[in-house]
Amino acid sequence: MPENRGLGGTESPQRWWRDGVLYQIYPRSFQDSNGDGIGDLPGIISRLDHLNDGTPSSLGVDGIWLSPFYRSPMKDFGYDVADYCDVDPIFGSLADFDRLLSEAHRRGIHVIVDLVPNHTSDQHPWFEAARSSRGDPKRDWYRWADPRPGGGPPNNWRSVFRRVGSAWTLDRRTGQYYLHHFLPEQPDLNWWNEAVREAMDGVMRFWLDRGVDGFRVDVAHGLVRPRDLRNNPPFQVRGWPRLRNWDLEEVHEIHRRWRKLLDSYDGDRMAVGEVNPRGLARLVRYYGNDDELQLSFNFGFLEQPWRAEAFRSIVERWEALLPPVSWPDYTLSNHDRSRAVTRYGEARAGVAAMLLLTLRGTPFLYYGEEIGMTDVVIPRDRIVDIDGRDPERTPMQWDATPNGGFTSGGPWLPMGDFARRNVRGQRDDPASLLSLYRRLVWLRKRSVALRRGKYRSIRAPRGVFAYAREAEGEQVLVALNFTRSPLRVALGSGSARVLVATDHSRDGDSIELERVHLPRDAGVTIQADQRTTMSQKTP
Ligand code: GLC
Repeated sequence: MPENRGLGGTESPQRWWRDGVLYQIYPRSFQDSNGDGIGDLPGIISRLDHLNDGTPSSLGVDGIWLSPFYRSPMKDFGYDVADYCDVDPIFGSLADFDRLLSEAHRRGIHVIVDLVPNHTSDQHPWFEAARSSRGDPKRDWYRWADPRPGGGPPNNWRSVFRRVGSAWTLDRRTGQYYLHHFLPEQPDLNWWNEAVREAMDGVMRFWLDRGVDGFRVDVAHGLVRPRDLRNNPPFQVRGWPRLRNWDLEEVHEIHRRWRKLLDSYDGDRMAVGEVNPRGLARLVRYYGNDDELQLSFNFGFLEQPWRAEAFRSIVERWEALLPPVSWPDYTLSNHDRSRAVTRYGEARAGVAAMLLLTLRGTPFLYYGEEIGMTDVVIPRDRIVDIDGRDPERTPMQWDATPNGGFTSGGPWLPMGDFARRNVRGQRDDPASLLSLYRRLVWLRKRSVALRRGKYRSIRAPRGVFAYAREAEGEQVLVALNFTRSPLRVALGSGSARVLVATDHSRDGDSIELERVHLPRDAGVTIQADQRTTMSQKTP
């Protein structure tokens, strides 16, 4: 376990996943070490210094989330697990994992791994046993149902992957359908069965005993599906009705069970759920009474148009809904969604970074976001993902050498514009996006107001999102211009100092809070002091 480093202020209790910045690594695409064109664990180790070498010349992240590296037939690139307790040879070995863990911890980087409890691979020994006969002892570890009278799937439940269609596939040998909310090669586990719960506890213990700091839990609002197989209401023109087979009350029992398990270990182990119910009001329920997973991903930003008012509304609603014991989080991208820079446009990357890294809540970065990687257009004959997610999963762009320094072989997905945009090129350029990310992350480490302070919106003209963060007498103001026109905002009175501006040449400038100048697509983070009058607040 890395020590929680004291970062100033009279803070208590320290929670690395509240105070820190987390970074998602998609192992296939981070760094290849053996020339097979696919990233691997030794590759990640060789790049840890980029993430945190203890100095502000590195990004400074406090934790990494590793997408699956377990044994898998790779139908869903690792989210189809055939052995939860081993490393797929494509990625290396368990010994490599142990080395990664200790090398990360040595740098103060916590490590969380992906837990995929909703389904296994159809190649998992549990499913192979379950499908071998109706009487097999593992049969009930999955969901089986007879064809509906006259034939066909038992009900109208659909797979998340549009191209799959029905969530049921007929197993010809035993004459019954099995349930899968993703690929047919990802049969759903039966979470009503206590033996399944115990088996997954065993998986968690396996990794916790090895020393991981926690889990990102895949499809955490799925798991339990109704016992009865009644249909979902039919599609309505105005969108999907509430689905019966997601976000069930009973799933919370499982989260409470996991929280107890996490709490039984020392060293602040945590879990963050991929919880995607309809709306923030249902999302907040997954925090329980501080007795469920410590964090639930808030995907609100991924669904917003680039408008200050839309982002502010997510933040204000999330702030209002979360009980005081619960902690928010924010993210702009992940391996399932179009990258932030592609959604918003290159010019806005700086404002997006400042937003993510100055709000009250744990920021989750997605690899490559720090250099402004975009989605990459994938030629038809290179498409490999069933659900169209290749564009946001292309290899990390380290330098301008062939294949961006990612591999000496042929990369598994086409490379993006690595000659133009890469870590090496941005590292020593103070005006680069990477430098902005680093300044913001390291500022957050130094500033108790940014890490832990209260959040408060500040009234601002249309197109500007402005807020204050305050703790222990420290006050930081942030103003973000979402528009393509220069604007002036009043943030209070008196003079103050720019801590970080998206345009780095303004860092350190003294400014008057009555008239803060914001160029187009620009943001500033300002150090105010207690005496600064915050005259114009929104409630
Ligand atoms: C989650 C993952 C996604 C995967 C799916 C099935 O949504 O993020 O990549 O395909 O679960 O495991």
